[in-house]
Formats: sequence, structure tokens, C-alpha cells
Amino acid sequence: MLQQLMRIGAAAVALTLFAGAPAGAETIKVGIIGPLSGPFALGGKNFKAGVEAYVAAHGDTVAGNKVEFVYRDLAGPDPGAAKSVAQDLIIKEKVQYLGGVYLTPSAFAIAPMLEEANVPLVIFNAATSSITQKSPLIVRTSFTLWQTTVPLAKQAAKDGLKKIAITVTDYGPGNDAEAAFRTTFEAAGGKVVETIKMPLSATDFGPFLQRVKDSGAEAVFAFLPSGPATVGYAKAYVESGLKEKGIKLMATGDVTEESGLQAVGDAAIGIRTTYHYSLVHDSQLNKDFVAAATKAIGNADELSFPAVAAYDGTHVIYAMIEATAGKQDAKKAVQSVLGMAWESPRGPVKIDPETRNVTQTIYLREVTKENGRLVNKEIASFPDQPDWGLVK
Ligand code: PHB
Repeated sequence: MLQQLMRIGAAAVALTLFAGAPAGAETIKVGIIGPLSGPFALGGKNFKAGVEAYVAAHGDTVAGNKVEFVYRDLAGPDPGAAKSVAQDLIIKEKVQYLGGVYLTPSAFAIAPMLEEANVPLVIFNAATSSITQKSPLIVRTSFTLWQTTVPLAKQAAKDGLKKIAITVTDYGPGNDAEAAFRTTFEAAGGKVVETIKMPLSATDFGPFLQRVKDSGAEAVFAFLPSGPATVGYAKAYVESGLKEKGIKLMATGDVTEESGLQAVGDAAIGIRTTYHYSLVHDSQLNKDFVAAATKAIGNADELSFPAVAAYDGTHVIYAMIEATAGKQDAKKAVQSVLGMAWESPRGPVKIDPETRNVTQTIYLREVTKENGRLVNKEIASFPDQPDWGLVK
């Protein structure tokens, strides 16, 4: 009798579970974590624009399963908030995949939760090299500071510069940028005459740049996380008289990213940077991507680099869903994209099977004006750059 009742109960549960869904099909939820409010809100908006541009081009069904994106706001570098946002997506929303994550401290906070949850994380931005080492379930489609900085330091030495000052934000990616620049530049015979670590909360860059001026450096290298501080730094560089004195600014592309560049103004013309993506990268695929992402974001002035990592990150998540036929198997999903190569709007890219970071071309760019707009014009390229922080 009891057994019979249990069987009827189980059948009723099964009926409830499958009611409304076509046989074999499931809705697969993907949780996207990013700053949708606060100083880095454009980062989150660009994640959304990149995902939406990808879905517009490739549809919302993979291997017969409908894919649904669930967005959660994570405004600042707050590890506690990062954990609870990820937990909410995993437990309450039952997401099979996580994507996004703008700031490094958030990535460090989420990494330890992934294996138990059986959920891969595809990082759309956070760029400290060691992040992918914190969980075998992390894949990154953005870049690392080692990856973008090594070519710039090589270029500085090639340009004949001998004495450099380093200014970086004092946290994970800034420390990586400093180590990458120093090691590469010194190996090429250059000298670092001043190293300045600026707090993440800094808004007044005048005093730091005064120290650069006094250091005897011929040029200054800078990394700051893209946001209000990068615009403030670029403006302060011009206002402090460094440019006038002939002390060149060499930076990673975070400092001249397009959504902040117009606010810096014409004084930015001539600033050289290295980066994985420029909005004016010359390819048909990129033109199509920029058109779709602009439509998604709704304002051309807000479009910037995090959108391309989100577009490619969505491509990686779709490949994972395909490889697992929609079943939740994080290990198999990650395994399936190791070594995967494709053509991105930024150029050719590949997931390095050892580091799980994207290998890509890094471009040397110069700020110029085209059709009345400031752009990062690509002037040279360094193909097949791995994450130099992990591949020495
Ligand atoms: C990071 O926190 O890893 C980060 C944020 C913004 C950037 C680069 C790196 O532009």
C-alpha cells in the first residue's frame, strides 16, 4: 500500500516537472554578474550589450535548449557581495553557467564556490593572471595585464627609451602590470626610476604625476581599471604638464577606452597604448559586431571593450551547452572548449588549454581623430600573445 502510494506520488512529481516543456528540451539559465550601477556601471552595460549582440546573431536556442540570461548587479570590489550574488544565482536561480565579473576581487571571491556547485565561470573582464588558477572551472575571454603589458614594454625598449616611471592601481591587475612592465623593460636594458602604487579609491592624480615629473623619467607607464579614474588620470597627465615636458604616456588600453576617451578630449591625441581590442578594428566581422552592440546598448558613446569579451564569452558558453547536450556537467563543459579557436571581432582567438585564458593578437594603438571622434587606431600588432603571467 505504502509503496503504491509512493509510486503514485513520484509519478505526480514527474508530471509536474515536465508539464509545459517539450520532451527533452530544457531552459538553461546563465547568470551574468557585473556592475550595473556605481562607478563601473558602463562595464556591466557593455557585458549586456555583448551578450545581446551575440544572441541577436545566433539565436537563443542551443542543442534544442532555450538559453536564458539572468543579470545581477555587483557594483564594486566587494568580495562578500560577490559571494552572495553568485550564491543567489546558483541556489535560487539554479543557473548552469556563470559569466561576467568585472573586478578581480569579485573573481577571487567566486572561484572557490564553482566546483561544489558544478558551474563553470566564463570571465568577461577581471584580468589578474592568477584568477584562472583559483578554479579549474574558470575560462577567460577578456585579457590579462601581463598579456597586454609585455608587448608595450618591448615597444618602449625598441623606441629607445631608457628611463621609465611606473604608475599602477594598487591591487591584483595593477601589481601584474607593474611586474610585467618592470621585468620585460629591464630585461631589454631599460631602467625603472620610479614606481608609484595608487589606491583604487584615488581620484586626484596630480601628486602622483608630480613625483613622475621629479623622477627624471623619459616616459610614464600607467594601468588603472577602466572607469572614472582612467578619465581622471588621462586628464591629469595633460594638466600636470608632463605632456608639454615631452614625458610620454604609455598605457594599457584601459586608460584610453572608448566610452571615456571623448571626455578626455583632444589632449589625448598621440597617447599610445597596447590592447586586445579597438572599436575601429578593421574587419567586416567587427563592423557587424559594433553595429549590433551599439543597437543593444542604445548609445554609441557608451560602447567599449567589455562588450567584445562578453560576445566571445557567450560563444564559449554556447559551445559548452552544445558539448554537454544541455546537461549540467561543468568539468565536461570546460574540457570541451580547451584549445577552441575562432574568429572574433577583435581578430583570431584561442582558449589556451593550459591557462584557460584567451590567446590573441595585442595591438599597439595611437589615439587619433577620425570623422570628429577620438579613436584608438591600430598601428602595429603582436600576434598569438598568451597570458605571459602564466606562460613564461
Ligand atoms: C580588474 O579588476 O581585473 C580590471 C578591471 C578593469 C580593467 C582591467 C582589469 O580595465
